[in-house]
Amino acid sequence: MKCKGYAYIYTIGCQMNSYDSEKLFVILDKMGYQKTEELNQADIVICNTCSIREKAQEKAFSFLGRLADKKKKKPHLISIMAGCVAQQEKDKVFKRIPHLDVVLGTHAVETLPRIIEAVKSGKTRITETRESHTIFETPPRIEENTAPKISRFVTIMQGCDNYCTYCVVPYVRGRERSRTPESIVEEISTLADNGVKEVTLLGQNVNSYGQKEGICSFAQLLAKINDIPKLERIRFATSHPKDLSDELIFAMRDFDKVCNQLHLPVQSGSNGILKKMHRGYTREIYLERIDMLRTHCPDVGLSSDMIVGFPSETRHDFEQTLSLVSTVGFDGIFAFAYSDRPNAPASKFSGAVDETEKMARLNELLALQESFTEKKNNALVGTVQRVLVEGESLKKRHTEPGENITEPQMTGRTDTGKIVHFSAAGVVPGDLVNIKIAHAYSHSLWGTCAGE
Ligand code: 5AD
Ligand code: SF4
Repeated sequence: MKCKGYAYIYTIGCQMNSYDSEKLFVILDKMGYQKTEELNQADIVICNTCSIREKAQEKAFSFLGRLADKKKKKPHLISIMAGCVAQQEKDKVFKRIPHLDVVLGTHAVETLPRIIEAVKSGKTRITETRESHTIFETPPRIEENTAPKISRFVTIMQGCDNYCTYCVVPYVRGRERSRTPESIVEEISTLADNGVKEVTLLGQNVNSYGQKEGICSFAQLLAKINDIPKLERIRFATSHPKDLSDELIFAMRDFDKVCNQLHLPVQSGSNGILKKMHRGYTREIYLERIDMLRTHCPDVGLSSDMIVGFPSETRHDFEQTLSLVSTVGFDGIFAFAYSDRPNAPASKFSGAVDETEKMARLNELLALQESFTEKKNNALVGTVQRVLVEGESLKKRHTEPGENITEPQMTGRTDTGKIVHFSAAGVVPGDLVNIKIAHAYSHSLWGTCAGE
């Protein structure tokens, strides 16, 4: 097909948005548009937005705002806001970005071809944000002229029914719905046949996969994916502590391709705050689940999300979070200052925490975690880790004076999800290699090939 023009997508936010952007590229590709990494080359620009916190939302407005000048120079340029901010703000977006052509909600991806044709025929300021309860399926994107990425995301379910009081997701992504195991297995088999070695299964709450539809449990889905030939590794995110079943823990223990890694957001260590957040578990239940997990999956790589400064959070509540972090000893955490979101009930809760106090708590929490991350990484020095090679390393390792690195520097991950950079000749992306860890940095490891 003749190239109709170039498409540029700016993705903000989570892994799920990266997956959605790939899907948008599949649709654009079918229409005859080629992907470009150069904004100035683009004929269509899509900003795939995130509204989880105000900061992410503002990033989208400022990116799209800056397109005004480009549109003056290139009047045929089509500009589109997609994703969660589009779904949330609907046609209010045009008040802030008058030059924008399209607001494309999270449920409307399949309408993209019709909408682009409408803009081309002269329509402006189109809003498509109707809700749908189905999942739009497209085949996976296969890179044709470049080497395949070794690791890819695959969304297995969309939406969320949990209604945590701080969270905008149920309002912008809709009710929870799962894809069928057949379509997921078909997508991953196609990826594996085209050189992909590792998939990360995505959903807001993957543990409740298939429950609503009564299709099969998440552990049963893992069993099916574990059987896909040529696939080496399976990761998944995000898991909700209230739905972390023994069945899933046993699946992590028993299925050889399922990695020894779990992202289990706790959000707070205080029972009072967890209740106000509507999380559905207590600190004690969370710690019990971690014990169970560690009993069956020793050395599991554990990470979590935390929110500090939730309305009414006292110093004592915050100290409960600090103590939980010390008790668990996570490999890493993602910590956020609470941000009021439109529609989310917590935005109407009393007891707002002062912004300066929030930032102080955030820094204190991150500093505490840093000491655990360091300890965990240092403990791996001298061990041999099985690493799936993802590509060339952009991080240059520390060298001694006069030392000259001649071997290529590669990068990959351990089974537990730690990033490893290493010197190796004759190793290509997709290989599984044994690496002896020589140094621990704050967020990665460095080592050398240890042979078979
Ligand atoms: N404010 C701050 N952090 C939030 N998160 C979700 N909503 C908010 C909010 N309103 C965090 C949670 C979640 C992660 C993806 O983002 O920790 O797990
Ligand atoms: Fe948001 Fe809670 Fe659903 Fe996670 S589980 S997406 S935090 S509502």
